[in-house]
Amino acid sequence: MTKLFSPITFKNIELKNRLVMSPMCMYSCVEEDGLVTPFHQIHYGSRAIGQVGLVMVEATAVQPEGRISMQDLGIWSDDHIPGLRSLTEQIHAYGASSAIQLAHAGRKADVNTEIYAPTNIPFHEHSATPVAMTREDIKDTIVAFQQAAVRAKKAGFHIIEIHAAHGYLLNQFLSPLTNKRMDEYGGTLHNRMRLLEEVIQAIQTDWDGPIFVRLSVNEYDTNGNSINDFIIIAKLLKALGIHLIDCSSGGIIPVSVPAYPGYQVPYSEKLKHEANIATGAVGLITSGVQAEEILQNDRADLIFVGRTLLRNPYWAREAANELKTTLQPPTQYKRGWNI
Ligand code: FNR
Repeated sequence: MTKLFSPITFKNIELKNRLVMSPMCMYSCVEEDGLVTPFHQIHYGSRAIGQVGLVMVEATAVQPEGRISMQDLGIWSDDHIPGLRSLTEQIHAYGASSAIQLAHAGRKADVNTEIYAPTNIPFHEHSATPVAMTREDIKDTIVAFQQAAVRAKKAGFHIIEIHAAHGYLLNQFLSPLTNKRMDEYGGTLHNRMRLLEEVIQAIQTDWDGPIFVRLSVNEYDTNGNSINDFIIIAKLLKALGIHLIDCSSGGIIPVSVPAYPGYQVPYSEKLKHEANIATGAVGLITSGVQAEEILQNDRADLIFVGRTLLRNPYWAREAANELKTTLQPPTQYKRGWNI
């Protein structure tokens, strides 16, 4: 039995295997309304047919001004629920579990209204200058995450992932590079963590399923959070009841990330052992053997795969062949899958 294709349970949800479709924005909402389109149904449904254990829907905006692009999926209104429900129905029909990544882009939002951040520092010299959030704005955003969780539950999702990575709003609060506030949301690490903590607690008032958090565990700047800061953050997340940390890196400031096979796996390994919390590894994991090595050596609990699954929705079968194991096909493909 391979580890990649063995089940794993988070709280009340059993994933049939440890392969996750990493959240990836598809910039495909037609009317800039955040609504699911037939493209999204085919896109996520086909990875479920391809036997991914957990299909995670892309960064989905909890407030319209928090969109990375005007074509992002949204969950800021009840109008979004039926489309998202059609997605979970598709995903579950083929045996996969479903997750949604709840997001707010903060100063990296690309919308035609004001944008918001902890401090009024633009991302780079050509970016729009964000408005520094008032306590009232912060409260509204916390409520938006809480309401998004209620809608995610109504839409039938199994798992919520909170996007606190890649330099988006929650990451902007966490990082000393972008958070220069003097109030209780800035300054010390515990203060910078406060918004994420309050978002988690707000989500937990209505949501009883597993919650994952994606972090950028390397800020690629000596003045940013260090790995020791992330160990403290991971321990706090565990104490708050978070089930898994999905370990990515970068995006907080405009520097290019040196990427090579498995480049972010050490962050997952470190947080898993230092904070004693389940972790996900992501980033240039492209073969079954590589994924199995990470799991067998206890460097992560889940394997998130992005671009490789864009190129090949049936990559799970390829990885299984590589590991000399067979995957149960979806019933519709039984006659052709293993011939
Ligand atoms: C991404 N990524 C990403 N990450 C995230 O947390 N939320 C998102 O919505 C997106 N959107 C997105 C779109 C596209 C087109 C790509 C290619 C990537 C990052 C992604 O989830 C993953 O972490 C990286 O792509 C690294 O993994 P791979 O692609 O090397 O397996």
